[in-house]
Amino acid sequence: MASSSFSLYSTTLLVLLLALFSSLQCSIVASTEFEVGDLKGWVVPPSNDTDIYNIWASNKRFQIGDSIHFKYKKDSVMEVGKENYDDCNATQPTFFSNNGNTEFKLNHSGTFYFISGATGHCEKGQKMIVRVMIQDVHSKSSGYHVPVGVFQIVFVLAFVASYVI
Ligand SMILES: *[C@@H]1O[C@H](CO)[C@@H](O)[C@H](O)[C@H]1NC(C)=O
Ligand SMILES: *[C@@H]1O[C@H](CO)[C@@H](O)[C@H](O)[C@H]1NC(C)=O
Ligand SMILES: *[C@@H]1O[C@H](CO)[C@@H](O)[C@H](O)[C@H]1NC(C)=O
Repeated sequence: MASSSFSLYSTTLLVLLLALFSSLQCSIVASTEFEVGDLKGWVVPPSNDTDIYNIWASNKRFQIGDSIHFKYKKDSVMEVGKENYDDCNATQPTFFSNNGNTEFKLNHSGTFYFISGATGHCEKGQKMIVRVMIQDVHSKSSGYHVPVGVFQIVFVLAFVASYVI
């Protein structure tokens, strides 16, 4: 009897820790900053490997509120529409930055198109499509998770207490 209530107690403790951890993790995961191109940064891709940015982006899971960071030298970042992305047309960007250190917030779901504004770079593959998921309610904000986490903890504590006492 004692050993079964002990194992129940440790199971409950484990559940409590998992609940704590998952609510903590959700509030951390709520907003992520991605480093475009990882260590390479935002550069003209090698001529035998021109698709590096779309490969990079397709391996990520972007959510609303995440941001992407572009690190580069003597170059620029533009957000453009699909047509201008396809044509490498840098005449009318919806966003432009050339400070070498650009943070771009993905503030809505759907597709974002980025190109380099430096002459000839986009044509060589310095361009990227980022798809942002429709909002997942489970990682919307820490404001949603904190009450759930507290509720779980109170529930688990009450559960533990009912066996220990
Ligand atoms: C591209 O060429 C470089 C050097 O010529 C080579 O090291 C690399 O493996 C090649 N990459 C691909 C994807 O073929
Ligand atoms: C580039 O795009 C703009 C509008 O976004 C358009 O007016 C212009 O004709 C385009 N230029 C070329 C060369 O296609
Ligand atoms: C996203 O940010 C851009 C640029 O700051 C802004 O023009 C646009 O209205 C924002 N969209 C949403 C849905 O907040």
